[in-house]
Amino acid sequence: MCDFDMPISRAGTSAEKYTALGRLFGREDILPFWVADMEFAAAPAIRQALAVRVNHPIYGYTSIPESLVEAIVTWNRRRYGLVTADASVTLVPGVMAGVSAAIDALSEPGDAIVVQPPLYPPLMHTVLSNDRQLIANRLICRDGGYCMNFDELEHLLQLHHPRIVLLCSPHNPVGRVWQRDELVRVVELARRYEAYLISDEIHADIIFPPYTHIPMLSVDEAMNSRIIVLNSASKSFNVAGLNTAYAVIPDSQLRASFRRQLRRRNLHGVNLLGMTALETAYRDGEEWLERLLHYLHANRQFMTGILNSKLPGLQHFIPEGTYLYWINFNSLGLTARQIKEKLIDGARVGLNDGVTFSKAAEGFWRFNFAVPRSMLEQGLERIVRAF
Ligand SMILES: Cc1ncc(COP(=O)(O)O)c(C=O)c1O
Repeated sequence: MCDFDMPISRAGTSAEKYTALGRLFGREDILPFWVADMEFAAAPAIRQALAVRVNHPIYGYTSIPESLVEAIVTWNRRRYGLVTADASVTLVPGVMAGVSAAIDALSEPGDAIVVQPPLYPPLMHTVLSNDRQLIANRLICRDGGYCMNFDELEHLLQLHHPRIVLLCSPHNPVGRVWQRDELVRVVELARRYEAYLISDEIHADIIFPPYTHIPMLSVDEAMNSRIIVLNSASKSFNVAGLNTAYAVIPDSQLRASFRRQLRRRNLHGVNLLGMTALETAYRDGEEWLERLLHYLHANRQFMTGILNSKLPGLQHFIPEGTYLYWINFNSLGLTARQIKEKLIDGARVGLNDGVTFSKAAEGFWRFNFAVPRSMLEQGLERIVRAF
């Protein structure tokens, strides 16, 4: 038995995955596979570094140590070949706070912003709550997998002159790891139609072989003056409660305007425990991350095997990256209502409803498999029995 096999009770920790069960699913006896955090203990190095910091009894205003920025730059260079200057990094309280500030830095109220549903809902809500127009360039499902609709993207760029194309790379919920040729086409279109790019790369570290994450900033250096990237240690190291996000913005003018937006919203303060966790993760967490990826890969294989053998008619999308499995239950010939009932009242499992990612994704559900194998087995068994 390895560390990741060990079930850990989150009772008494106000874990959202559990506290919101009644509100979301109408009952409490649900085995949860929704919120994108993991049922695993954080890396021992991170827990130790936090304990050391907590043992110092003063938790006052804290400046950002140079060593933290160095750790971020080194991590991105070593793992993804991204060469960037220390100065390009800005810490932010969260990826979504960063996306919001980026939207404000690059566009005005009323401007159009392109997104690619089905998509992590807060990315779409943030466009709307900043009073921008949401332009949907829906992903298309072809030969059993999702891809970008470039013809439509070009059409939308011509029609709406959006200021921004907002990408999720790797993509939540469909699990695509965008490849260089795809990103090159996006960048070329953005250049031709003078749009900026915001790339949310929060899932960059969770990639399965043979895929590799291509940072948006490594596609075409000449376009880097029009790109804002957001990233975080929160998904990869299971520290989402700690504020560990950052932006990478090579262009000094863009960066100044992004930082102005953060200050305007008073979002430039950072959390001292988050900084400790982020620096330790990137400095000492790589070996743990590799073991995690191995475990997640085995979980993905296990889940694929069960779905193929026990529910052969079910369409599912094996994720290239992320610990999120996107499943089309419509393929079983049931109505969306029947599917929901079977999942919630039959199987008593809590997945994310597809309609929150796209109006067109009724009957699709997202399953988070970053859980101990025993919990995964139990969840899948319940689903198989209910369907
Ligand atoms: C694509 C994506 N972006 C952003 C976030 C949230 O980031 P943060 O908590 O740092 O705002 C998530 C969390 O699930 C996500 O999947």
